[in-house]
Amino acid sequence: MKIQYKIDRIDHNIFYKKNIDNSIISEIEKIKSDKKILFIYDGKIQQKIVEQLFRKLKNSGCDVSAYEFKGNKYNKTEKTLFSLINLMMNKKFTKKSLLISLGGGVIGDVSALAASLYYRGVLYFYIPSTMTSIVDSCIGGKTGINYKNIINSIGNYYHANSVFIYHDILKNIPDREYYSGIPEIIKCGLLKKNKIINILLKSKDQIIKRDYKTLESLCTETLKTKIILFKNDIYENGIRLHLNFGHTFAHSFEMATEKLLNKELIRHGEAVGIGMLCEILLSSKKKNKVYNLLEKILKQYSLPTSLHQYDLNISKQKMIDQVYKAIFLDKKKINKLPRYIGLKTIYKPHIKEIENTGEILEVIKKFI
Ligand SMILES: NC(=O)c1ccc[n+]([C@@H]2O[C@H](COP(=O)([O-])OP(=O)(O)OC[C@H]3O[C@@H](n4cnc5c(N)ncnc54)[C@H](O)[C@@H]3O)[C@@H](O)[C@H]2O)c1
Repeated sequence: MKIQYKIDRIDHNIFYKKNIDNSIISEIEKIKSDKKILFIYDGKIQQKIVEQLFRKLKNSGCDVSAYEFKGNKYNKTEKTLFSLINLMMNKKFTKKSLLISLGGGVIGDVSALAASLYYRGVLYFYIPSTMTSIVDSCIGGKTGINYKNIINSIGNYYHANSVFIYHDILKNIPDREYYSGIPEIIKCGLLKKNKIINILLKSKDQIIKRDYKTLESLCTETLKTKIILFKNDIYENGIRLHLNFGHTFAHSFEMATEKLLNKELIRHGEAVGIGMLCEILLSSKKKNKVYNLLEKILKQYSLPTSLHQYDLNISKQKMIDQVYKAIFLDKKKINKLPRYIGLKTIYKPHIKEIENTGEILEVIKKFI
């Protein structure tokens, strides 16, 4: 399956393929690159997948250099960014050279930022390797690194020319990196009318078995929904903001746990699931139909619905205070107060400024 969309009149493609085929090689031919490639991959991905892709690139007659790094939050830094820029510089990359990254959201975000900065932009392909990156971060063009303990505080917008989703890779994603992408799928199902919620409710067995046709339909439906929301609002002045549903709280949970525990306790997608519950509760003041639906789907896929399911190993009050502080680092805020996406009814999101700081605390306390 191929999805095509335009940004500023330039074509972008997403391929959903069963096997690692030659689609990437045909696209390299089409973009008229200078055939210099930097191939960046996450060291945790199965060796045989990395080798298969590397061999394909090499056999196509391109001059390919490969570079491995670990895709975790601690590498989403300026140090990694500059190491990628240095590699391109050492290989005498031109604007027509191609950076290809294979990895989850961390590798994707840093690589896209490096691709956008070197000579103000080189060609860029992305092969996502976690569920979060397959259904969310592979499109939309947001790049970023974390700086001064603030998530994505440095970044810009730069869209991969093409994205290649291979079911062969998806089938081998470890369970945690697979299931933690599901909240981003649910998010798109709650924001806009489409087939997503129905598939999630009715096709549990196929999703657990990672059935090709079911996953193709679930992932492409999610990506199409995301495209509708960002395509005409790249810089987030209006409806694209809705895609941040759950993220004001999610980022606070991520930042607070990392700061206090000094480790990556919670995956981004898991935090988004809990964050959406918080934002529904904050906007509706009570558990409503959409809250119950979200909670049911999260539980159906054994995803956390609060921080109670994690081993926090720290005083509850300390964590509450830290999450509360982190909420004020929200990047969507335009005045003094953080903003979030309220959802009182399914398909009817609205951007809201937090009016009553006491109410945030009440919500946080319920989830820690
Ligand atoms: N740009 C965007 O629009 C956007 C959207 C959502 C999330 N993000 C960012 O993405 C990141 C979260 O993404 P993520 O959950 O993919 O994180 P990640 O890239 O850190 O991957 C999670 C873990 O899975 C490992 N991994 C990756 N692929 C694997 C594979 N196939 N097999 C085995 N292990 C594998 C990684 O090494 C890492 O340990 C955050 O930094 C978040 O800010 C960006």
